[in-house]
Amino acid sequence: MKFELPKLPYSYDALEPHIDAKTMEIHHTKHHQAYVNGLNAALDNPLLQATGTLEEILADISAVPENIRGAVNFHGGGHDNHSIFWNNMSPAGGGKPGGAIGDAIDKAFGGFDQFKERFTKGSMGIQGSGWGWLVLSPKTGMIDFVTMPNQTSPRTAGLVPLLGLDMWEHAFYILRQNRKNEYVDAWWNVVNWDDVESRLRSV
Ligand SMILES: [Fe+2]
Repeated sequence: MKFELPKLPYSYDALEPHIDAKTMEIHHTKHHQAYVNGLNAALDNPLLQATGTLEEILADISAVPENIRGAVNFHGGGHDNHSIFWNNMSPAGGGKPGGAIGDAIDKAFGGFDQFKERFTKGSMGIQGSGWGWLVLSPKTGMIDFVTMPNQTSPRTAGLVPLLGLDMWEHAFYILRQNRKNEYVDAWWNVVNWDDVESRLRSV
């Protein structure tokens, strides 16, 4: 099993002025590539059996041999998180969602504005590196906001990631330096609600 860096569904400058081309290029070709390489290196062992898709591996992380579990959690999570992140954004994104995701947000958070505030505050409150996530719990059928440290995937907690915000400094530092709030505000303008909707519907 060999993982590969996926192509972006748009050009590096497509999300400007909200997210700059230089950040996108380095984030994709250097940071995401490093997670792909790290995951392949961790799994490069003839004694390991192929155990399914990356999503399945992350959802059952305790089944991964202990000596590589930390590396698979970090690099596998990093690969999966970033693959979702790119598709969660679109130059035609932003605004307020309708559809099933709009209804689910109203039900879980009391309205889009309340959801946006909860997601923004929660993501801004992450100490160190991590991600803010809108997730679905398949057990309850409810959506919720959670934060995850470093590159740990929500899948490891039995949750399905729908919409993720990368709060690592590498996601914004070139353009925004310490102005993390500007990055988060700008990101809302490129959220691809069609992608979030299709993730919700595919569970
Ligand atoms: Fe990242």
